[in-house]
Amino acid sequence: MMGKRIHNFNAGPAALPLPVLEEIQEEFVDYKGSGMSITEVSHRSKWFDDVINEAEERARRLLKLGDDFKVLFIQGGASLQFCMIPMNLALVGKPVSYINTGTWSTKAIKEASIQGKDVQVLASSEEKDFSYIPTDFQVIEEASYLHFTSNNTIKGTQWMEFPQVKDVPLISDMSSDFLSRPFDVGPFGLIYAGAQKNIGPSGTAMVIIRQDMAERTPEDLPTMLKYTTFIEKNSMFNTPSCFTIYVINLVLKWIEETIGGLEEMARINQEKAGILYDSIDQSDFYRGTAAKESRSLMNVTFRLPSEDLESKFVAEAAKEGLGGLKGHRSVGGCRASIYNATGIDSIKTLLEFMTEFENKER
Ligand SMILES: Cc1ncc(COP(=O)(O)O)c(C=O)c1O
Repeated sequence: MMGKRIHNFNAGPAALPLPVLEEIQEEFVDYKGSGMSITEVSHRSKWFDDVINEAEERARRLLKLGDDFKVLFIQGGASLQFCMIPMNLALVGKPVSYINTGTWSTKAIKEASIQGKDVQVLASSEEKDFSYIPTDFQVIEEASYLHFTSNNTIKGTQWMEFPQVKDVPLISDMSSDFLSRPFDVGPFGLIYAGAQKNIGPSGTAMVIIRQDMAERTPEDLPTMLKYTTFIEKNSMFNTPSCFTIYVINLVLKWIEETIGGLEEMARINQEKAGILYDSIDQSDFYRGTAAKESRSLMNVTFRLPSEDLESKFVAEAAKEGLGGLKGHRSVGGCRASIYNATGIDSIKTLLEFMTEFENKER
């Protein structure tokens, strides 16, 4: 029996598509006639093998990946990738380059720095409180790679066009906008995403790596920190996060079969964010915090005239069944995270609440 569900605007872990949750519920006790739950079957069984292979195939189809790309599932979330990337992919005598657009980029930069890599930060939007995406920077073509965060979950900014490069492989932390829109994987050496925003439960990152990048992995790294280990063992050198991968597969199936692919997903996401930004733009009560040309279709960040009103807004919204609207603890304000699974009905309900609150409190 299902309880009452809220309109979930959490930043991550975040809303999952209801049909996916229902499918999980339906087959949770007896997975496809196995007499076991998917959380009880062996990761070496045919049942789980089908799950992980299907998840990989779906990612390949959605992103139009060629055979030169490997799809991996690595425990430790996106944060472990901050460390594995420089460890595996920094070339001797060549710098690693980064663009700093907020907390998560800063963390990625820190992990490269503490490994003693030659870190070159090409641009940063820190002087304007990370409220925009830099466009004016010089790419170092001979660098080992260029890392950027495609969507900045905390500040609500997003790269609308990726950095233009000739030879240097792009690496992107796509945790908070992965599979929200189509893009050309051609210039990318590696893409990674913590699953808990757009594609599943927390604890695992999906990592898409080009084969020639993996060839850089030094031999003397610990086994579990090498990309080559995950490639050689189909992400099963040890016991993977079976349940997370199972849910990822169902979410990818939902994007493919119910939504109809990434073009349609992007159209829906544009429409959802457009509704909220239009109303914020028309109001002098709500104020968006991100520069217009950089604002995120995934995390809509905004302020009210005072912190007291912000607290009241979040508390009253929660009472009305609108959850997760408090801004990140490091920046305050309000944030509506509207990932793939957030339906247009939730956006409309939020909009109604915002209008009522403004009329009452202004
Ligand atoms: C853009 C981005 N990168 C990285 C992370 C960290 O992910 P994880 O908790 O999986 O390490 C987050 C949020 O949690 C994020 O929003």
